[in-house]
Amino acid sequence: MIYPIVAYGNPILKKEALDIPEGENVQELIDSMYATMDRANGVGLAAPQINQGIRLFVIDSSLMLGEDDEEKGIRRAFINPIILDEYGDDYGFEEGCLSIPDVRAEIIRPEKLTIEYYDENWNLKEEEFSGMTARVIQHEYDHLEGILFIDYLNGLKKRLIKSKLIDISKGKVPTDYRMIYPLK
Ligand code: NI
Repeated sequence: MIYPIVAYGNPILKKEALDIPEGENVQELIDSMYATMDRANGVGLAAPQINQGIRLFVIDSSLMLGEDDEEKGIRRAFINPIILDEYGDDYGFEEGCLSIPDVRAEIIRPEKLTIEYYDENWNLKEEEFSGMTARVIQHEYDHLEGILFIDYLNGLKKRLIKSKLIDISKGKVPTDYRMIYPLK
């Protein structure tokens, strides 16, 4: 199933998501999240973006990497993740978000992280990620905390995109995937 994606302005995007009870069957939901992400040509999708306030996201960082890149991306689901540590050099990278179409901004984050999570078979993992994969994880993990990438922008940059954000909430910014608009 392909879900419509919640647009900026919906309160669920600002809420902290809740843990999924251990062992709950989320396979169908995960499959639908992959399908929804792929349909929108996204590299990541968090459950709050399909109006579900639970701690789950999927990523496919391979789409951000070319054949010549040394780093290989991953396609994976993260259930009840906890970022244990972030480290390495901070660097800026231009981010976007399926819930905030047509807005991009350079965001500074550390290059590496260690994360604990359950995979889709409810196996507990602890892994280190870096580069583009770490970047996508950081962005999606923020969604579970009710944080959007634009929350990191300074006052001036926020003012510059303010009218655009209102347009997004009203459904005035066209996308080639289906969305739910809070002000429409
Ligand atoms: Ni996003």
